[in-house]
Amino acid sequence: MSTTPAPLTGASTIQTWLDDPAGGDVLRGLLAQGGQSAEALAPIAGLPLQNLVAMSGGAFPQEALDALVAQVNPDYVPAATAETPKGQWAEKITAGRFTGQTVIVTGAGSGIGRATASRVAREGGRVIAVDVSQERLDEFVAAHEGADVVALTADITDDEGVARIIEAAGDRIDGLANIAGIMDDMTPVGDVTDAVWDRVFRVNVTGTMKLMRAVIPAMLAQGGGSIVNTSSEASLRGSAAGAAYTASKHAVVGLTKSSAYMYGPSGIRVNAVAPGAVITNIEAKFNSPLGAERVQAGMAVMVPPVTADRLAASITFLLSDDGVNVNGQNLASDGGWSAA
Ligand SMILES: NC(=O)c1ccc[n+]([C@@H]2O[C@H](COP(=O)([O-])OP(=O)(O)OC[C@H]3O[C@@H](n4cnc5c(N)ncnc54)[C@H](O)[C@@H]3O)[C@@H](O)[C@H]2O)c1
Repeated sequence: MSTTPAPLTGASTIQTWLDDPAGGDVLRGLLAQGGQSAEALAPIAGLPLQNLVAMSGGAFPQEALDALVAQVNPDYVPAATAETPKGQWAEKITAGRFTGQTVIVTGAGSGIGRATASRVAREGGRVIAVDVSQERLDEFVAAHEGADVVALTADITDDEGVARIIEAAGDRIDGLANIAGIMDDMTPVGDVTDAVWDRVFRVNVTGTMKLMRAVIPAMLAQGGGSIVNTSSEASLRGSAAGAAYTASKHAVVGLTKSSAYMYGPSGIRVNAVAPGAVITNIEAKFNSPLGAERVQAGMAVMVPPVTADRLAASITFLLSDDGVNVNGQNLASDGGWSAA
């Protein structure tokens, strides 16, 4: 007995769209207009097409989705008003939580780093906002007029850049949020190039270590501080990225635990946050058919991507004094993905 497939809507998964002859044609056509192919959607193929509206940062608005659905589903009636998404959450500022504190935030120009720097600044902290992108930092500063922000264009892998960051922070450094990081190209170890391996380790591990090493003297001198590193779901499982990124994020956890153990008695707490999928500007390429197939299969249990302010909530908790009794942890902030 054959069954008629349900008509395509925004609630249908991206994979269902791609598998449908008419839906696949229009979706591939739309992607081609933006110079993309369906492969770019492989890691999120199990998510509803509707999620692309939030994930695209305005490039794929609700009207574009409605127009796409209407092309293949003549009976489709767009909702007059957007439904309140399940699990709606709004950031609540804790006024003064970081007053009197200086916090270095790397990767502050975009995504999770930007959301964290923003939250610390809006909660009264002095933020040393670090990024390689001057343009992104300029935008951040413009959006935080009146806040105590020192924007610094620097590369965390570069000793001279790290020295400038420490100099800008001054004698007192209460917090370090090591958030700058890059993805790999999803290659398994059999295909990984030395260039990808070295670059991913240089930024994610060596850069993270250099900033930690640089803040330790000030934190020891003042008798405490909080360091929060950014790991990933890929620090918890083998199915979320390629060999280089996965190994680099496991290394971040090792660095976190070693430092927590070494400096705990000196009042320095060192933790990591492991984000699940987050809507940011991070780039993920697929340079290996095996990597694409395996990572996509692993994504089947993934929780839908979230906005970066949810990660800032976890990171600022650990940065703040509320994290007083937490040291050496790799906190999954992934909506439960790691429980699957
Ligand atoms: N987005 C996700 O789904 C996700 C999931 C798990 C972990 N993470 C981790 O979260 C962190 C932040 O990622 P994001 O998604 O917000 O990415 P993003 O690309 O939106 O932001 C990262 C920022 O870091 C900056 N940066 C990169 N290399 C740098 C360097 N060498 N020195 C200084 N700045 C540098 C970039 O210019 C960029 O503005 C990364 O460590 C990433 O591995 C992200």
